[in-house]
Amino acid sequence: MTDAPAALPPLVVCLGNLVADHTFSVQEVEQPPSKNIARAYRLGPGGMAANAAIAVVRLGGRALFWGRVGDDMNGGPLAEALAAEGVDMSQLRHVPGGRTPVSAVLVDRMGERSIFNYRGEGLGLDPTWLPLDSLAAASALLCDPRWLEGAEQALLAARQRGIPSVLDGEKSETRILRQLVPLVDHAIFSTPGLQNFAPGVAPAEGLRRAVASGARVAAVTRGEAGTLWLTREDPTPRETPAFPVEATNTTGAGDVFHGAYALAIAERQEVAAAMRFASAAGALRARDGETPRRLPLEELLVGG
Ligand SMILES: Nc1ncnc2c1ncn2[C@@H]1O[C@H](COP(=O)(O)OP(=O)(O)OP(=O)(O)O)[C@@H](O)[C@H]1O
Ligand SMILES: [Mg+2]
Repeated sequence: MTDAPAALPPLVVCLGNLVADHTFSVQEVEQPPSKNIARAYRLGPGGMAANAAIAVVRLGGRALFWGRVGDDMNGGPLAEALAAEGVDMSQLRHVPGGRTPVSAVLVDRMGERSIFNYRGEGLGLDPTWLPLDSLAAASALLCDPRWLEGAEQALLAARQRGIPSVLDGEKSETRILRQLVPLVDHAIFSTPGLQNFAPGVAPAEGLRRAVASGARVAAVTRGEAGTLWLTREDPTPRETPAFPVEATNTTGAGDVFHGAYALAIAERQEVAAAMRFASAAGALRARDGETPRRLPLEELLVGG
């Protein structure tokens, strides 16, 4: 008798943004504008869905990326960098004449970041090329809001197939978030993103509006102040505290939180456990400036 083949790790499809992040470590973001020296510089892949996909793989899952880059100097190397991390980039679209998104990330001595993002151009909005049949093998779908048409198409297809979905509800136009939240199971906002979705109301009320509009779970991440969340079944707000760490670079902590959360959902963890798992991943990213692997995360979960 032969042994049954080991089950593959769960697959998370990550749809959205892939950005060339130029990260400058500086003392301070000076005002008024002046000439200054950076302590360090790094060029690497960024973007919500891309950072999340890397987190999925480092934490033990499989990730398939859906998105577009230009056929410029940035697109190819970015795709290679994600592929080198083990993310399946075979369905990435290289758009002829398109320009890839780029960010200048300024990280100050406290580890806080300012980002100037160029969103790219000529990447096309048409989502009909998306190979939606690939969802059949997926255990979760994660979308960011930077490609509305693609996210809508994929979220509808995931819902039809009963595949759980997660939205990174990051800072965006109100209309974009209002279009996507009803289509998603887990609407996980950043603090500015929740304000865009439900302007002028308290966070708990914003989350209630998200579940009233169709999400099953709504949450808002608040950096070191931890995560506030509620569910459709139990609309009492609950808090998942942040793990106390000394932050060196908070860039991408939210993206990594979302990747870890989507993997936890793909692994069928309960919502409270998934929030804790994701918080640990976000904390380690903020502490180390690096996306964590599974073992240190599990250690933090046990010790924290
Ligand atoms: N300084 C920190 N200490 C501990 N945990 C942190 C810290 N910063 C972030 N985290 C964890 O990561 C989660 C997401 O962080 P945050 O709310 O800052 O994301 P964000 O605003 O979306 O930012 P970005 O998308 O740029 O990473 C937090 O809810 C928390 O669990
Ligand atoms: Mg974020």
